[in-house]
Parts: sequence; structure tokens; C-alpha cells
Amino acid sequence: MCGIVGFTGHRQAGPILLHGLEKLEYRGYDSAGLAVRNGSAPAEVVKSTGKLVKLEEKTDNGKALEGCCGIGHTRWATHGEPTQINAHPHVSGNCTGSASGTVESEVVGVHNGIIENYIELKEKLLRHGYSFYSSTDTEVVIKLIDYYYKKYQIGPIDAIAKTMVRVRGSYALEVMFSDYPNEIYVARKDSPMIIGIADGETYIASDVPAILNYTRSVYYIDNLEMARLLPGEAHFFNLNGDEVQKELTEVTFSAEAAEKGGYEHFMMKEIHEQPRVIADTLHSAVQNGIIDLGLDEEQLRQIRQIYIVACGSAYHVGVIGQYVTEDLTGVPVRVELASEFRYRKMKLEKDALVIIISQSGETADSLAALREAKKNGIRTFSIVNVVGSSIAREADSVFYTKAGPEIAVATTKAYSAQLIAMYLFAIRLGEVRDTIKDTKPLLEELEKLPDKVERLLEDKERLQWFASKLGNTKDVFYIGRGLDYAICLEGSLKLKEISYIHSEAYAAGELKHGTISLIEDGRLVIGCLTQPELYEKTLSNMVEVKSRGAYLMAVANYGYYSIEDTADFTVYIPRTDPHFAGSLAVIPMQLLAYYTAVGRGEDVDKPRNLAKSVTVE
Ligand code: G6P
Repeated sequence: MCGIVGFTGHRQAGPILLHGLEKLEYRGYDSAGLAVRNGSAPAEVVKSTGKLVKLEEKTDNGKALEGCCGIGHTRWATHGEPTQINAHPHVSGNCTGSASGTVESEVVGVHNGIIENYIELKEKLLRHGYSFYSSTDTEVVIKLIDYYYKKYQIGPIDAIAKTMVRVRGSYALEVMFSDYPNEIYVARKDSPMIIGIADGETYIASDVPAILNYTRSVYYIDNLEMARLLPGEAHFFNLNGDEVQKELTEVTFSAEAAEKGGYEHFMMKEIHEQPRVIADTLHSAVQNGIIDLGLDEEQLRQIRQIYIVACGSAYHVGVIGQYVTEDLTGVPVRVELASEFRYRKMKLEKDALVIIISQSGETADSLAALREAKKNGIRTFSIVNVVGSSIAREADSVFYTKAGPEIAVATTKAYSAQLIAMYLFAIRLGEVRDTIKDTKPLLEELEKLPDKVERLLEDKERLQWFASKLGNTKDVFYIGRGLDYAICLEGSLKLKEISYIHSEAYAAGELKHGTISLIEDGRLVIGCLTQPELYEKTLSNMVEVKSRGAYLMAVANYGYYSIEDTADFTVYIPRTDPHFAGSLAVIPMQLLAYYTAVGRGEDVDKPRNLAKSVTVE
């Protein structure tokens, strides 16, 4: 969703804040804003709609704003349209027009998250003489802080604590009080936030890449905690206002890892990182043939049911995980969309394990599902990429994928890393329960995946060529059976989310129950054929659609050459154990989506209306 940054130190804040926002632009990009203070002078607020570059132009790259203390925000609109007046920062005073310029307000702040009861709070504040210039929930929170601050004549921490008790929803909140120069106050619930310290200066951000250029020493602020930040100092408080002690943590990945590294887009860079990410994730869990995902052996033995819960691509990993786990272990698996799971009043098996898969570790629905499972007394295990994120911290155990920072909104390398984690989980479970007698051949096969992915990437020009023919395509269907169907779900999502071409994934056997009526001359159908026992069946579905005019692409195993009689264009994938075919078949699908979107001139890394981390419902 939105991204927030903050800085208080000895250098000019404007350029540092803008640099941080650039790194967070993947989180939201419909408007942005800054508030900077020079000593005890009132804050100067500048906002702009559209991409960050507009704000950079407006502020001469931040240099036009005088002062060493400030906050910034990049917005992905939830409450209120993406207009300048709705852009953050918001202020406690009354303002009109663009709400830019010097503000005499007591409180000025930015917020990532959503305040569910903001209408009720707004009515309360209206009764107390406040007026509102925007339609955001954030303006309500800022004014509520101001209200408590003035009514009870209390300090910033107490005023924020009172506000936290009163609001429902999620927030990572940063506020400056005009009475407290050079200080930033923050609060957090269910939205990400980290605090970095270096050389007598303090940084705040929604995500690590925003501050990596300056520091690797960070504090993770917990849920329902607040902090008072001064240059080089951070003091943490719980909801009672008691100070809590925290340890500084060192971030281990490099700033360069978060940059484009010579590729035109982050997505392409991340696609090419997959061989390394697969190897790193594998080696972090497997040493000398022993798989360690941090799960207790005895507990694994007792599991009678597994629920895999996730959103988006992580859910697609779950679907593959279901096929692989059931096949290798015989333990029943249900895959659930987190947004459905959290509200379904299903009876959960007590001896179950709930697996939450999430790149960001902050997806609101996945986090809520995790909490629901815990409330029901069910053990939880999370597969997460972002270290220290909420899902990672709240699950009973966590396995971290080694994808590194993923910037492109459409996930590629995090998906691949999650698949490895899922395979390892299934193999370990099978080993513990004796359904797999020897894990060695499977682990050896996993070791070979990075090279095989590398080979597929070398063949990318063919996909570029094929994609160049899809400029005017309106609908695409992906079909497959079993695990191939699960792969299609991800291939189809990649294409639609960045190229805006309508696409759907269908279990090939379902075609004739409706979708086949949509097949007409030239309609592109992409068949996935990696599962030996299903090859003939999917092939015959492809023949069916071809006879109705479909134009066919196939993603098939090396050696399935009879496909050439049917498909117009085929990409062969290296042979592997069929359980792991998803890791290979997805590569040409990612490349096809990428090249199609680039060919249509779309903003590949930041597709419209989408956000990398969905921290609201
Ligand atoms: C967003 C992203 C997807 C991601 C999904 C779940 O929609 O654009 O790429 O799969 O959220 O996110 P998570 O961080 O929980 O994996």
C-alpha cells in the first residue's frame, strides 16, 4: 500500500526523504508528499499527485525544503481519491486548496494503513469544532492526536497512546509536533515500519531498502508500540506509556541487491536472480542431506491435516504445495485464500498445521488468517521473505526464503523461493512419516534446478519474439491438469497483472463445461504439459480447442515432441522430477508476461492499481 519515510539528523532532510520514497515507490504511486522542519520553525508541506518524479521536480529534489527533520509518504489511495488534497502529510489545523506550504498546525503526520472507525471519530471531532479538508482517514487520526494532546495537556506519547486505544484498524504512523523540534513520534499496528540509526542520525521507513544506503542497524518496532525519535536516538514505549528496551539488529543484504543491476526493469533483474535465489533458499535449509525448516519432528509426525493459507502468487505456491505434499506424504492438504479463510467459520482440525505463505509477511488477510488459526489453538508455520515482518514474528515457527528484496510488484523470485520451501516441507514431512524412504534423489534433483532455470533464461529471445506477436491480443487461456493447472494459475496472473490482457487459467478438463464456447479463431491458448501421466489428456484438450480455431502455445517437457503436431509454438523445459516442474515451467510464462507488457509499453514494475504489499483488506 503506502510507503512512509522519516529522518531526523544533521543533514538536510528533503533529499534523504525523497531517496527513501524512491525505494518505496513500489508500495504506492498515485501521490506523494513531504513535511520538513527547520529547528523550531513550522513544518513546510509539499504534495503532488502522480509519480514521485513530480514531487522531486516541485522541490528541486528535496533541496527547496529547509530543515533536518522531516517525514514523507507515497500513497496508494484507499480512502479518498488520489488528489493533491488527499495526499499526505496531513495536518491538525485547517487548510484549504492544495494543503501545501508552511503549516502552523500543532501536529503533522503521515500514515500507512487503514482506520476502520474513522467516520465515527470524524463525527466526534466535528462536534468538538474540528473541520476537515480531505476525505482521508489519516486526517482524522492526526486531528484526534491533536485533540487529546490539547484537551489533556499531555505529552506526545500519551496523546498518541490515547489515539491508539480509540482507533480500530492498521497503521504505521509518523507525526511531528510543533512544540518538539527535531523529534518524530511513531506508532505501529499491523503495518510495517523499521527504524535505522547511524552517525547520530535516525531514519524511519516502511521497508529496509529505503534506508540501506545510510545504515544497516535497525530496530523493529512491535505491534501497538510507539517511539520517540531524536537524532541518533530511539526510545520505545508500550501502550501504557512505559519505556521498553530493544536490541539493534544488523540487516545483512546489500543496498545494491535492491537496485536494478543493469536491467531495464526490476522484474527482469528479479527473473534472472532466480537460479541464485533457488540455490540460496535450498542451502539455507539443507545441510549434508538434512532438512531443517525449524519444525519439530514429533509435531510433524502428529499432523493430520494441513491448511495452506495465502494470497495472490503465494496462494498459487500453496496450490502446488498441495499437490506435492499430498503426493509425497498422503497427509490431506487444503489450500485457502486468506481473505476467505479469515471469515469462513470452518471447523478446523485440532491436530492441524496452518502454513501461511507470504513474501512481505505483512499482507493483511494472511496476517488475519494466521491470528485466526492461533486463536483456534492450531500450530502455525510461516514461509516469509521479509525478515522481522509481522507474519514471521507471530507464527509459531518461520522459515525465511532467501529471495532478498523484491521490488517489482509482480512477484517472480519470491514465488520461486517459496516453491523451494514448499518442496522441502513436503520432503521433510514424508521423511519423518516414512512415506519417503530416501530423500537423497529428491534433494539431488532440487540441486539441479538452478542450472535448469539458467538454461531456460538463455532461451529468452524466442519468448521475446513470440510476445511481439501478442500486442493486440485481448484474451488468453492457460490450461493444464493437476500440477500443470497450478502452474497455469501463476502464468495467467503474471500476464494479466502487468500487460492488462485478460487471461484465465483453467483446469483443462473443465474447458468443456463452459469456457470452450469462448474459443474462436486466433484465440491464444497456452497449454502446460509437464506431468507424464496427464500429458495425453491435456494434449487432447489442446486438439479440441485447435479444431475450434485456437492459436496454441505449449510449455512441455523435453522429449514430448509429438506436441509439435498440435502447438503453433512450443517451449521445452528440461526434465526434472514432476513434483518440481513448476519451478521450470513458470520461467517461460514469466518471460512471456514481461515481454508482452514491455511490448505494449506498460510500466512493468509498477502496474496500475496494484501494490506490492497489501496491508489493508
Ligand atoms: C500482492 C502482490 C502479489 C503477492 C500478493 C501476496 O497482490 O502484488 O505479488 O503475491 O500480494 O503478497 P505476499 O506479500 O503475502 O506474498
